[in-house]
Amino acid sequence: MKITGKELREKWLKFYESKGHVNIGAVSLIGDGSTGVMFNVAGMQPLMPYLLGQPHPSGKKRLCNVQGCVRTVDIEAVGDASHFTFFEMMGNWSLGDYFKKEKTAWTFELLTKEFGLDKDKICATVFAGNESVPRDEETANYLKELGIKPENIYYKGKSDNWWELEGTVGTPCGPDNEWFYPINDKKCSPNCDIDCKCGRFVEIGNDVYMQYEKTADGYIPLKNKNVDTGFGFERMLMFLNGITDGYKTDLFVEVMNYLESALNVKYDEDAEITRSMRIIADHIRTTVMLIGDVNGIVPSNIGAGYILRRIMRRAIRHANKIGLSSEGLIEVAKIFIEKVYAEAYPLLVEKESYILSEIQKEMDKFNKALELGLKEFDKVISGIKRHKEFASKTNEVVKDEISGKSAFRLYDTFGFPIELTIELASENGFTVDEEGFKRAFEEHQEKSKAIPQGAFKSGLSDHGEQTTKYHTATHLLNAALKIVLGNSCHQMGSNITEERLRFDFPCDHKMTQGELKRVEDIVNSWIKAGYNVTSEEMAKSKAVEIGAEHQFIERYPDIVSVYSIGDVSKEICTGPHVKNTNELGHFKIVKEESSSAGVRRIKAILE
Ligand code: ALA
Repeated sequence: MKITGKELREKWLKFYESKGHVNIGAVSLIGDGSTGVMFNVAGMQPLMPYLLGQPHPSGKKRLCNVQGCVRTVDIEAVGDASHFTFFEMMGNWSLGDYFKKEKTAWTFELLTKEFGLDKDKICATVFAGNESVPRDEETANYLKELGIKPENIYYKGKSDNWWELEGTVGTPCGPDNEWFYPINDKKCSPNCDIDCKCGRFVEIGNDVYMQYEKTADGYIPLKNKNVDTGFGFERMLMFLNGITDGYKTDLFVEVMNYLESALNVKYDEDAEITRSMRIIADHIRTTVMLIGDVNGIVPSNIGAGYILRRIMRRAIRHANKIGLSSEGLIEVAKIFIEKVYAEAYPLLVEKESYILSEIQKEMDKFNKALELGLKEFDKVISGIKRHKEFASKTNEVVKDEISGKSAFRLYDTFGFPIELTIELASENGFTVDEEGFKRAFEEHQEKSKAIPQGAFKSGLSDHGEQTTKYHTATHLLNAALKIVLGNSCHQMGSNITEERLRFDFPCDHKMTQGELKRVEDIVNSWIKAGYNVTSEEMAKSKAVEIGAEHQFIERYPDIVSVYSIGDVSKEICTGPHVKNTNELGHFKIVKEESSSAGVRRIKAILE
């Protein structure tokens, strides 16, 4: 190893600390629900309010950290050499402080001085410009001044050099400057450059110039010109060690050594086994991180818990497939906790026995279900084969496809995540009617209302319908509390997930059953009344004048959106909201508790 994970982590933080940044450490992997995204998918995500203009609690404008992220959109690709569901992002930020001149110089210094890259080989891309944002000549000029060859600077359009959180609004974004480097000097053709499919060039990171806010209709400039830098930790570790297999970095070596000896196989020799070993390693690492997080989750059938369940069950299945015992899978988790991440994530060590027992529980549950489910699966397959045989006599065409209904039964009765059914089907040369599955799922949901939206969504999703509903319900709750507890009651904190809303407000006593009931009744009467939800843009002063609710008035821009719900609520807010309150269902308070001195907290759900 030329450089270990630990050394890289330290190098990154030390370098940016030497440039006046404060290491803010990593925060929870679980998103706060405010953008409809379940997990942190980028290092900037937990920093969004500060990129939008709110002062950072540290009081500083230069920040850095190494932040864990979870992305499950590419889960099917895990098993190759470079896809992971958990990864870390090395980041640094300027909150309206330094900008392009300093940032280009520091990235250049880091790459050439700290990591010893040759400036003549560094390539960079900058934004080519479009109708709303100009071409980034400024960055290109700084790069040239630093000594990057002009022919190594490329101008690219929005699909390459623009960074935003897809599917969200009210979030910061902007053009970026990406950095590339060749892993060797063997050009596959005279034109072999950063766009070449041969993969000689790797993108090692990017500096985003976040100076816009993405709104429903386009992009508006932010007050602050921010910098958001992200360099993928695993990717950089591979690159600096001159390897192209992420599972050969020191983050995975211990686990792979263990698997080799437990299974008596050699990593990299048998493609199928290697794939399963990588899936097990990646998925168990993500499992450990999600259960061991400060806001840790456990497998379930809804929201983030369902995604975790899918990940865990895929690992368990691959363990079964290559003959790794339950103890073996637990051992993999232990290696990550005790040997690989103990220092960077001490909480994992504290929560070790809890994490391991949750993994054990899920294995027991799933293995029991699997036994029965696999029998059912075989029945489904032989049923189709029989049907086909019979149909061949009548010229009826029968596809090698498992119906949506059968797939749903496997899910509902036997706990088979749809991905498992698809994977098993494809091993047998069959496909699955996924649309049909979704329909069956939705029909069931209509009937039971037990499984909220979001089960199909991966880490990165658009504003979940359920989240939107909770946004609107939060406004109604705020208004109802004013009626029951007095007009001075107001929002002090709010957090929304796909599964519930949480609301903090000042109140000097534990709310009585009667008060809670009144709040519920009022909210439900407003839901029933079917009030339209409308929004209007206006000057901040006017919003205050008409009595719109607000939390930190000084932090809003001069023009704000005011959302009105019939005539019962008016609030400054960025949305999104439902169109009519009758979309919300039944509002129920599930908990009322103390949040801090003089502050109460309500958790409520929509059923
Ligand atoms: N937000 C940027 C990224 O994730 C830095 O790549």
